[in-house]
Amino acid sequence: MNITARFTALALPALLIGTALLASAPALAGGAAAAAPAVSDANIFNRNLKKTADPNPPPWEDGIHDPENEATHALQPPKEAYAGLPTTTFGNHVDWVKALDDGLLRPRWDRVNSNEEPFVMDLDIVRPVKASMPDVVFPHRQHTEWLFCSNCHPAIFVPQKGANQISMSAILLGQKCGVCHGKVSFPITTASCKKCHSKPKPEGWTPPLSDATLKNPWK
Ligand code: HEC
Ligand code: HEC
Ligand code: HEC
Repeated sequence: MNITARFTALALPALLIGTALLASAPALAGGAAAAAPAVSDANIFNRNLKKTADPNPPPWEDGIHDPENEATHALQPPKEAYAGLPTTTFGNHVDWVKALDDGLLRPRWDRVNSNEEPFVMDLDIVRPVKASMPDVVFPHRQHTEWLFCSNCHPAIFVPQKGANQISMSAILLGQKCGVCHGKVSFPITTASCKKCHSKPKPEGWTPPLSDATLKNPWK
């Protein structure tokens, strides 16, 4: 939506120049540039935007840590830390769920008590998708191995099946699943759709078409 708005803003002065309204064009062009909407951080995984050349740069090249600070160079580079973990083709290229399942990681659940175990809830929530994409399965198990219930309930999701309205646009804008996916967990890319859209449509499924389409006399 941001992108469409920006294109419209840029196209307008060009159109006016084309129709020889030269006098007003420079003023409009200036105004349009100032009105261009800012792209929020939530959109860094938008594939219309520039891709990062290296998803796992060393701390002194990641633009977050101060390369001038000696201590930055004492930090372990991610690539070294991730060696031997199962890989994916997206995000930071580590399959974190599999790494945990395979016992390669053992996150500490409690800051003080190192023996504290997570409260894991194994409950899948199926979200039927109206479009032809496979249905979405939200797995509680994989999430509650890392997160508290209160990381999601009730601020992001009301804990009731079907009570939350979720859409791809919201996710891409950094809401709902997008509060985490694309930031701290795997991003939305063409290669990752099927991680969430993992349940094939029931046999004989047809798209829910409107009367306007079904009763179209010209079909
Ligand atoms: C990563 C986010 C996340 C975490 C963490 C999480 N949930 Fe959920 N939970 C969801 C989503 C998404 C739904 C489905 C909501 C919907 O369909 O609208 C849901 C649904 C539920 C439901 C409703 C089930 C039903 O059949 O109506 C309950 C109960 C629930 N969660 C309890 C918990 C508990 C207890 C924990 C911690 C052990 C937890 N959740 C952790 C995201 C989360
Ligand atoms: C509070 C943060 C958070 C929210 C909100 C969240 N997730 Fe996740 N999700 C994670 C983390 C962390 C992981 C595990 C690490 C990873 O794979 O990136 C994960 C993993 C997954 C996996 C991978 C399971 C596997 O077996 O590989 C799926 C599928 C998934 N999430 C779907 C969803 C869906 C669908 C929603 C929205 C309904 C959602 N998540 C909302 C944090 C979140
Ligand atoms: C992090 C999990 C996740 C990923 C990754 C993901 N989706 Fe979705 N998608 C969802 C959820 C949740 C819904 C909402 C389902 C519902 O109606 O409750 C959804 C809905 C949709 C819909 C229905 C229309 C809409 O906006 O609600 C389409 C189409 C869709 N996704 C396409 C895709 C495509 C294409 C990709 C890969 C580029 C993708 N999705 C990746 C979670 C995900």
